[in-house]
Amino acid sequence: MKHTVVTFQQAKDRGEKLTMLTAYDYSTAKLMDQAGIHGILVGDSLGNVVLGYENTLSVTMEDMIHHGAAAARGVKNALVVVDMPFMSYQTGVRDALVNAGRLVKEARAEAVKLEGGREICPQIKAITAAGIPVMAHLGLTPQSVNALGGFRVQGKDERAARNLMEDAKEVEKAGAFALVLECVPAKLAGVISKEIKIPAIGIGAGKGCDGQILVYQDMLGLFPDFTPKFVRRFADVGETMKAAFKAYIEAVQNQSFPAEENSYKISGDILEKLY
Ligand code: KIV
Repeated sequence: MKHTVVTFQQAKDRGEKLTMLTAYDYSTAKLMDQAGIHGILVGDSLGNVVLGYENTLSVTMEDMIHHGAAAARGVKNALVVVDMPFMSYQTGVRDALVNAGRLVKEARAEAVKLEGGREICPQIKAITAAGIPVMAHLGLTPQSVNALGGFRVQGKDERAARNLMEDAKEVEKAGAFALVLECVPAKLAGVISKEIKIPAIGIGAGKGCDGQILVYQDMLGLFPDFTPKFVRRFADVGETMKAAFKAYIEAVQNQSFPAEENSYKISGDILEKLY
C-alpha cells in the first residue's frame, strides 16, 4: 500500500503507530521499503552520518537533491520526505518555495521537512499552498545547534515547554501535515501529541508520540562516533561489516578468493593460440 500524507493522518486517527527511518541511498531505501516502513526521511543528518561533518550546517541543496533522488528511486510504498538544508528556507518565503520545489522536481520528494516553529510559519503556509506537504521539526533542531548551545534536551522548564506546545499548534495551523519532536521529555511530547490533530513523530521523545523515527546508522550500529541515549541498537551491522572486511582481506591474501566459482572460463585452444 502506498503511504501518503492522507494515510499518515488516517494512522493517527486510528491510533496506529507510524514508523519512519532515515535513508540516503537507493539500496538502503529499497530494503526499508520492502520491510514495510511507512515513511523514509532523507535527513540532513546526511551531513553527519554519510559526509562526515560535525553537524548539519554544511549540507547543501545539491547534497539533498543528489541523495534524495537516489533514495526515492528505491522506494515504492513509503512516503518520501526530504529535509530542506540550512539556509534553504530561513532566508525568506521565496527561497523556501523555490527550494522546496527543487526537492520535489529534482529529488522526487513527496514532502519536505523544515526545522522551526512560529518563525517559519510563513514558509510553511507558502509551501503547502503550492501543493507541497510540509513536515515540521521542533525540539532539538540541529540546524540551530549554535543558538541552542549544543545538542541537548529541549522543553524542560515551564517557559520552554509552553513555547514548544505553542509552536506545535502554530505549525499545525500553518498547514504542516506532521511534525517531528526531537529530544523532548517523554511526558511533554505525549501531551503535545494529544493536543494536536496531525501526527507527531518522535525521536528521543518517548512512546506517547504518534510514531517514531531513527537515523538508520544509529539503530544498526553503523555510526561509531556517538550514540544518543534515545537510540536502541536493533542490530550490530557495523561489527558484522568489519568482520566481513577482515575475512575478505585474509581470503585475498591467502588466495582462497577468488575461487573457481568466482572466475570466468576460456577454452584451452584459445589460450594456446596466444603463445
Ligand atoms: O536529519 C535527520 O535525520 C532528522 C531526524 C533526526 C528526524 O531530522
